[in-house]
Amino acid sequence: MTQQFRITLLPGDGIGPEIIAVAVDVLNAVGAKLDLQFVFTEAPIGGCAIDATGNPLPDETLETCRQSDAVLLAAIGGYKWDSLPRAQRPETGLLGLRAGLSLFANLRPAIILPQLIDASSLKRDVIEGVDIMVVRELTGGIYFGQPRGVFDAEGDQRGFNTMVYHGSEVDRIGRVAFEAAQKRQGRLCSVDKANVLEVSQLWRDRITALATEYTDVELSHMYVDNAAMQLLRWPKQFDTIVTGNLFGDILSDAAAMLTGSIGMLPSASLGASGPGVFEPVHGSAPDIAGEDKANPLAQVLSAAMMLRYGLSQPEGAAMIETAVDTVLDQGYRTGDIMAEGMTAVGCKAMGQALLKALN
Ligand code: IPM
Ligand code: MG
Repeated sequence: MTQQFRITLLPGDGIGPEIIAVAVDVLNAVGAKLDLQFVFTEAPIGGCAIDATGNPLPDETLETCRQSDAVLLAAIGGYKWDSLPRAQRPETGLLGLRAGLSLFANLRPAIILPQLIDASSLKRDVIEGVDIMVVRELTGGIYFGQPRGVFDAEGDQRGFNTMVYHGSEVDRIGRVAFEAAQKRQGRLCSVDKANVLEVSQLWRDRITALATEYTDVELSHMYVDNAAMQLLRWPKQFDTIVTGNLFGDILSDAAAMLTGSIGMLPSASLGASGPGVFEPVHGSAPDIAGEDKANPLAQVLSAAMMLRYGLSQPEGAAMIETAVDTVLDQGYRTGDIMAEGMTAVGCKAMGQALLKALN
């Protein structure tokens, strides 16, 4: 019997619509092979939603997401909306989506693909074989802490945010990370700033206490400044990293750039129940929007993560990952990962190559 899945598509801004179109074709091709049917519903988020409704996350969009089995997001934002008040910025829509669906766990893998090893700015022997999973807490910490604001104070101005974690929030992201590490190489590095911040001391104490339940995982702790350095110095020392919202934002960009091709990296945002959101790590690249130059592979790999983590269809996920591997082996490259001797293709042609590899 055909299994049916309701997928909300959030193409967003910039190159979003182009890359999500490729992912939809790929999903349909996989569906045809595995007897899965995807029912897609498209909804606006980010800049395009601001233009249409004045709100970067219209209520109907959040409701459509809630009614679905998984959400495939492309990218949001662009110069056009950068100077609007905070409540009307595209980023606010994204943060509202994370909070609205309680997506507290953000999984950001950074894997070096052998075909693209020369795209990295680091030496081959430093990055060969790197395979890191950053588990970032996504609905707490300084991103959402209260109080926050900018006030006039005694003839000066004062801007402030609050970095806050409840023990229970640390425990729940900790569990996701320990379980991820169990399925990987069994090593977990928790990153904090416990030498300075109380909130980080709590983080460290709770993660340490949790470790007694996961005796098969080797736990270590690292301060965030050192972690940033170690990621560049010898990234192979890391297997799974768990950290708070702000540190995870920064470290996941650094980890992504180890691969030299941020256009290749997918991510998954998951809650305790309900639909997850699957999206590329890269942004909306407004400078090349509509020019058929975008690299759709991170979006396509996000669809694979959706199948694996969101819809429990590992076979379909593996099919997509193999197809990506195949097109890279065949030498197809979009501009961002182009190298000498390879075949330059646009977004659409990359999509066609993927469909061919799937069949
Ligand atoms: C990310 C982005 C977002 C974040 C922005 C766009 C709000 O940088 O997903 O990493 O800071 O979380
Ligand atoms: Mg970021």
